Amino acid sequence: MNSTNSLRDSLKGRDLLSLHDFSPREIEFMLDFAAELKQKQKRGEPHELLKGMTLAMIFQKSSTRTRVSFEVGMFQLGGHALYLNAGDLQLGRGETIADTGRVLGRYVDGIMIRTFAQSDVEELAEHAPVPVINGLTDLLHPCQILADLLTVREHKGRLAGLKLAYVGDGNNVCHSLLFGCAKTGVHISVASPEGYQPREEIVATARDDAGETGATVTITTDPAEAVSGADVVVTDVWASMGQENEQQARLKVFAPYQVNGRLVAGAKPDYIFLHCLPAHRGEEVAAEIIDGPHSVVFDEAENRLHAQKAVMALLMAK
Ligand code: CP
Ligand code: NVA
Repeated sequence: MNSTNSLRDSLKGRDLLSLHDFSPREIEFMLDFAAELKQKQKRGEPHELLKGMTLAMIFQKSSTRTRVSFEVGMFQLGGHALYLNAGDLQLGRGETIADTGRVLGRYVDGIMIRTFAQSDVEELAEHAPVPVINGLTDLLHPCQILADLLTVREHKGRLAGLKLAYVGDGNNVCHSLLFGCAKTGVHISVASPEGYQPREEIVATARDDAGETGATVTITTDPAEAVSGADVVVTDVWASMGQENEQQARLKVFAPYQVNGRLVAGAKPDYIFLHCLPAHRGEEVAAEIIDGPHSVVFDEAENRLHAQKAVMALLMAK
């Protein structure tokens, strides 16, 4: 069996709960496949790899990009996506996650879920007989980081050996970036204030993953140190979904962590800027940066579509 077939086989039927669960080769293969599907879509070549299949999408939090890119992605793959607001499901009235997973598995070929607890996604995956894809939890956002890596690769021509700086809250996006960079050989430097740094167990696991690729993982409180010599500068909102009541307190704590012209002066002259969006101009990023010539945030948003199509086509393949 050639290596492409064995990678396809190893991905078939799997869940995407965390990037940590995938080998560097599997992640590289997903990115290669995403690039291939992107080219096919741009050329108008049919690629109905999931013809007649259905994806259930459970949302317990708001979404623009995730909802639309998964739904459009399923359509382009020849399948169908079902938007399920968690509040409208019996889940909202106390039906268990396990039963919801067992039942949905009788109707659909895959489930994407956006919710609060990572343990809920894990429980769903344990009981649903079809692949479960993590569309964001409080802990992780793996689909976003596949799109981010695809975007970096397109703009920089490679991943391994680059330096990526993440400045801001040590949140779900930061955690998945730690895994994504560690798995692909990207040196990652995270600058967050004390008390808002990425979780220690995630950093430790990412450091283990980095051992396989030669990436380095640095955690600091100094944004200038993180950004120094960076090829890629990334930030995210200071208050994530579910933290709305901390918004005011966080504005003060994070003020020195804004990505602005002064901070990026220390990055490489050809650095690129990423943000998963939605963004708050004037808070985590200055308008001059997100709307400036180094920003690739809309390529990044587009790449959610291509990355997730690859994930669905590989995991949900029969
Ligand atoms: N980046 C991201 O996940 O966007 P949405 O919240 O709009 O889905
Ligand atoms: N960290 C943000 C990402 C939104 C896509 C949140 O969880 O709200």
